[in-house]
Amino acid sequence: MRPLIVVGNWKMNGSLTTNQAWLSTVVTGLQKGMPAGRRFAVCVPFPYLSQCMNALSASPLLLGAQDVSAHVSGAYTGEVSANMLRDLGASYVIVGHSERRMHHFETNDAVALKAACALDEGIIPIICVGETADERNSGRAVDVVRGQVNAIVGQLQDRLVDSLIAYEPVWAIGTGKVASAPIAQEMHRAIRLQLAEFDEEVASHVGILYGGSIKPENATELFAMPDIDGGLVGGASLDAKEFLEICRA
Ligand code: PGA
Repeated sequence: MRPLIVVGNWKMNGSLTTNQAWLSTVVTGLQKGMPAGRRFAVCVPFPYLSQCMNALSASPLLLGAQDVSAHVSGAYTGEVSANMLRDLGASYVIVGHSERRMHHFETNDAVALKAACALDEGIIPIICVGETADERNSGRAVDVVRGQVNAIVGQLQDRLVDSLIAYEPVWAIGTGKVASAPIAQEMHRAIRLQLAEFDEEVASHVGILYGGSIKPENATELFAMPDIDGGLVGGASLDAKEFLEICRA
């Protein structure tokens, strides 16, 4: 059985003061009890890892970052290595988010290398894939995602079993246009079948999260789908109460 995993993605939001209020609400909320067998995490901007590490030390909410360098160390000004993330208590890191593929020109190969660097440090990469509206409207959604997943399988091979994949259709991110549960399930199924072509064991173990306009109102239906193993939650994760509702969904 794969656990249900809910991961918040704050993106470039937060401040020391607002984070403190969020952390205390969520820590208290989780203490009140959640359905068994679930995992929870929040991926925060680099400067807030330390604040969150301290606030979450006794909480089941695990910590994550939103990007990692594809290099181990050295002359890479502005980059943050997987080793540094581990020092700051990160258990997860998002790689290949569509906002990074789009604004920072990250390629499938770079994304796969970043995931490998995270795994080398015992950090679980949450590897994002997903098609744009144009790609879906022209009937290429499955092919595009297939290409993204192929690059990951090629680079990570069996190590994929320790990773998570997040299917995040670009047209659903931050738009309020959530993929319907059947549409999301169809793509999650396609990804799992593709992984099974490589290795059935890996395919049955890898968690595949859905991301894109998850809200308390649609989370239950999405999480009930057989191949949806949880969610990557952007906008709604900024509101502590909404995030807790999604964790409970
Ligand atoms: P959203 O973002 O929930 O605001 O659509 C999801 C994501 O980008 O991870």
